[in-house]
Amino acid sequence: MGIFIGSKNAQRFFKRLSRIYDRINPYIYTAEMRETLLKDVEGEHVLDVGVGTGYTTKHLDKAVGIDLIKEMLLRAKPEYMGSLVLGDASKAPFKPQSFDAVICAGSLYYFNSPIGAVKGFRGLLRKGGIILTITPNWRILGVFVHIFKKKDLQEIFRKADMHLEKLQNMRGIAYYCKARR
Ligand SMILES: C[S@@+](CC[C@H](N)C(=O)[O-])C[C@H]1O[C@@H](n2cnc3c(N)ncnc32)[C@H](O)[C@@H]1O
Repeated sequence: MGIFIGSKNAQRFFKRLSRIYDRINPYIYTAEMRETLLKDVEGEHVLDVGVGTGYTTKHLDKAVGIDLIKEMLLRAKPEYMGSLVLGDASKAPFKPQSFDAVICAGSLYYFNSPIGAVKGFRGLLRKGGIILTITPNWRILGVFVHIFKKKDLQEIFRKADMHLEKLQNMRGIAYYCKARR
């Protein structure tokens, strides 16, 4: 079990990391990876799970970004065009079927139950809505977080009753998934 899995552990980690996060993040999660994901966004009502400092969705004016860490949201705030919510996305306080898309760019692998989390996100999607995820695939990071193989991702979306439309390798360091309700 990775040491940063679960809300409490993720909180401890990102509270410390928030000060330097924006300096290191673009080297790992590059602008090109972000563009690949953003090209697939459908609709205006987008939920960014683990929005962090807003790197992925800051320019979308109807986006809602949720994060556990106040320090990350404070950094997102000056540029974020949508709205920001402090909270745990596994207990997300949103109306069922109120989003066109849910984005988990670097966040799904912190949840205790990734299948449970995806099931919850599915409930927030309108019929035909999509979930877009980016998850790292470096085995060595398994000490810290969940590391999913392709077959794990296939199983997560199948068990959450989502139709996986894309599962692709990104720069040899991550998997990108697009799944439809
Ligand atoms: C690697 S960062 C990704 C940030 C952002 N998505 C980006 O594009 O740079 C992961 C973020 O997920 C957040 N997070 C982890 N578990 C969460 C949960 N259960 N609910 C809300 N946010 C969570 C962390 O606080 C952290 O800010």
